[in-house]
Amino acid sequence: MIAGLSQPQKTLPPKYFYDAQGSLLFEAICRLREYYPTRCELALTRRHLGDIARFAGRGIELIEYGSGASVKSRLLLGALRPAAYVPVDISEAALQGAARRLARAFPWLELHGVVGDFMQPLTLPLYRTRSLRRRVVYFPGSTIGNLTPEEAHAFLRMTRGQVGMRGAMLVGVDLKKDANVLHAAYNDAQGVTAAFNLNLLARINRELGGDFELRRFSHYAFYNAALGRIEMHLVSLARQTVAIGPHRFGFDTGESIHTENSCKYSVEEFRALALAAGFRAERVWQDSRKYFALFGLVAG
Ligand code: SAH
Ligand code: AVI
Repeated sequence: MIAGLSQPQKTLPPKYFYDAQGSLLFEAICRLREYYPTRCELALTRRHLGDIARFAGRGIELIEYGSGASVKSRLLLGALRPAAYVPVDISEAALQGAARRLARAFPWLELHGVVGDFMQPLTLPLYRTRSLRRRVVYFPGSTIGNLTPEEAHAFLRMTRGQVGMRGAMLVGVDLKKDANVLHAAYNDAQGVTAAFNLNLLARINRELGGDFELRRFSHYAFYNAALGRIEMHLVSLARQTVAIGPHRFGFDTGESIHTENSCKYSVEEFRALALAAGFRAERVWQDSRKYFALFGLVAG
């Protein structure tokens, strides 16, 4: 946080959105009329579930990155009946809640949750007796869009190493579309996305002894067409100084903290990104409006 706020363009990593409060706010975003990605991905997953299950195979080890409330995973767990399910999330609260609900709904399932950062090499449970099982990584929600293309490349390469030659990856990707639709999804009328963004400052106050006055910052999100991404910022409404413990940060009026990118891809752009990282897109499933795509990647 300190390093990010010390740069000329102040920035904070989006992974810190997700404390217990942030995870609840994200779940509220998913229910918003304007936020289409969750509904689109759920619909296309339901529609192509048989095909997706055939692609992944039976008796696999399913690892999910950024599993959150594991809502989409429920569809997959029912259809795939994996031998083991390893949800990985940085939000302990979200992971605990999801694991409890899944254990009740799928009593036969071997489930092992891991709290951690999926950008770092994680120690995942080793199912030694099942060392010959296929590993499939599930990465829905277009969480990959919150990484820069360079970070996404590194993440895909790491995952390719993790699943091996016989493994696969299912990754959800939000597609380029009408900028008005994109703009509305990150500027909802109820202000839930604004609350999600501002929670980052509230969290700094709660956990790091910061003294951000939330009403002196405002949510700002726009589509950067040149870079194909929604950018979220928190804009200072006044000239002010903020303290985090012994550190002091000056803000000019209108100066922003860049808090998130949400990159949007065309099918071809994402196919090329995956290929450069060692994955071939064997299948691409899309919703009827072509707003969202689920890629079935294999070693290639
Ligand atoms: N997969 C769910 C949730 C997506 S929201 C869906 O499709 O709706 C993104 C999720 O990724 C959140 O639960 C957040 O806590 C988690 N997350 C974000 N950055 C992370 C990181 N670096 N490491 C691990 N989890 C992360
Ligand atoms: C988790 N991630 C894919 C969301 C997104 O759309 O980039 C996070 C989010 N930010 C604002 N609204 C939702």
